[in-house]
Amino acid sequence: MELFKVYQIYDISIVKAAGSRLWDETGRCYLDFYGGHAVISIGHNHPHWVHRIKTQLDRISFYSNSVKIAVQEELADALGRVSGKDHYQLFLCNSGAEANENALKLASFYNQRKKIIAFSRAFHGRTSLAVAATDNKNYVAPVNETENVTFLPFNDHDVLEDYFKKHGDTVSSVIIEGIQGVGGINVAEESFLQLIRKLCDKYGAIYIADGVQCGYGRSGKFFSHDYAGVPADIYTMAKGMGNGFPVAGLLIAPHIRPKLFQLGTTFGGNHLACAAALAVLEVIEKENLMQQALTAGQHLMDKLKQISGLKNIRGRGLMIGFDADEKLASLRNKLLYDYSVFTGEARPNVIRLLPSLAVTREETEQFIQAVQESVDILTQQNQPIQ
Ligand SMILES: Cc1ncc(COP(=O)(O)O)c(C=O)c1O
Repeated sequence: MELFKVYQIYDISIVKAAGSRLWDETGRCYLDFYGGHAVISIGHNHPHWVHRIKTQLDRISFYSNSVKIAVQEELADALGRVSGKDHYQLFLCNSGAEANENALKLASFYNQRKKIIAFSRAFHGRTSLAVAATDNKNYVAPVNETENVTFLPFNDHDVLEDYFKKHGDTVSSVIIEGIQGVGGINVAEESFLQLIRKLCDKYGAIYIADGVQCGYGRSGKFFSHDYAGVPADIYTMAKGMGNGFPVAGLLIAPHIRPKLFQLGTTFGGNHLACAAALAVLEVIEKENLMQQALTAGQHLMDKLKQISGLKNIRGRGLMIGFDADEKLASLRNKLLYDYSVFTGEARPNVIRLLPSLAVTREETEQFIQAVQESVDILTQQNQPIQ
């Protein structure tokens, strides 16, 4: 049977991983500055994470949500502590799209309204409402099309305010990434998030902070939205949460009260997923990884700024992007094939860096040297002939 092809993939087969290193089947070692798409938060196969999952597996891996699952409560406590939002409620599910889908639905249950505001270049996932709130027509099937989602320009205060003035009473929720990932590493302005908070309060709408990619400590704060200093009503999270084990969730503000059976899930919050997620939080705390993400990210950005040819270096913590112009169009492939370094991209010409929060200074130096040499070579090759 053939695999159903949905991505353009590299002809590389990864068979082993540790920290920020990957190995293919020939034994070649790679440096991972892509983090498997922002998923690897504490480092590949962290020994504590492996131990926690193995220990849990030996006891029980799954039972349905019809019984009390103590490890869910342990996870909720740890999440409250590390995120600083211990007064929120936790709903567990399995993926980022599912988290956003549930958030949008919960907002609509809460205020009985239908309109969703999303922003230009947003990506919120592939399921029906999440994809309808994603600003890419290629991902939206006819069955997902809905009049309920309105896209407004990202970071445009006036347009947002004007929209609320005209239609505020119909808005159920506003969903926004604190730093757009797929859209190309675009940071939401703090004043823009503050305005969303203010307008949601004024008009009874729900502010949903999509922290699927930019959350879980990657920005140097638990949610990158926290930089704005105003709370969201619902935070969604996924990628870094399990360090590769599928687990996702919603943090729900106390004023949104649960009603039995409105939300539900078979696999969400299973024992194994909770063990993986707990291990991640324990390592984040023990190794002080949020602070580390901030320091390492600042160092990486400073170094990137010294490389001429890289433009518009931006981001926060270890969620960093820069523009590679035409001359550097093959930079990502060069880094991979000639320097064994994985990076991410956002079309058309953005390189995205999403390494583990535990990336070391030495690994960063190796990465910078690879970028510097690649840029020099590509620039040289693309000089006009005299
Ligand atoms: C901001 C954001 N939200 C939602 C998603 C969807 O997550 P998943 O692929 O786990 O469904 C992604 C995935 O890239 C994302 O970056």
